[in-house]
Amino acid sequence: RIKAISDAIRVVPHFPKPGIMFQDITTLLLDPKAFRYTIDIFVDRYRDKNISLVAGVEARGFIFGPPIALAIGAKFVPLRKPRKLPGEVISEAYVLEYGTDCLEMHVGAVQPGESVLIVDDLVATGGTLSAAIRLLERAGAEVVECACVIGLPLVKGNWKLNGVPLYVLVEPRLDDLERT
Ligand code: PRP
Ligand code: MG
Repeated sequence: RIKAISDAIRVVPHFPKPGIMFQDITTLLLDPKAFRYTIDIFVDRYRDKNISLVAGVEARGFIFGPPIALAIGAKFVPLRKPRKLPGEVISEAYVLEYGTDCLEMHVGAVQPGESVLIVDDLVATGGTLSAAIRLLERAGAEVVECACVIGLPLVKGNWKLNGVPLYVLVEPRLDDLERT
């Protein structure tokens, strides 16, 4: 199953800029079997963990988070890029290669003491997920784990972000490098 998932992810060399091997999950979404496997693996892992809420990171965490939340009977909360949410928000900035970005969450979306799973498509530096963890912990939530489809080999196994376990399904594919 893991191989089917990995095979369904397209690698686009030098996108969005030279040297980056872009991991394109849109091809995974075009493969209903592999997409189903992806969601099922997460659902099997989290269904009995008493998770009350799944938080998804904009934009690609919005693709994988909601089907997991529905299947385990949890709420879904979007963590959005700045100035998208209409209500009162709390925000957390994080550092990018050039400049900073920010994630925002509605005040009151998460209750203190809630058990939360954070979902995104990919972890590279971990900056985005770290900001997501800080946001939820500031709201009083307990972040049980972060789940990503793709992560560097380094982050597989027992790697932790701010003390929160990280669960990753596949490593980034680099196999088109030869042909570019
Ligand atoms: C990508 C990816 C992760 C993040 C990982 O999102 O979807 O969210 O980068 O990088 P990091 O571990 O180094 O923080 P991106 O910010 O490119 O935007 P998108 O999901 O909205 O396309
Ligand atoms: Mg993203």
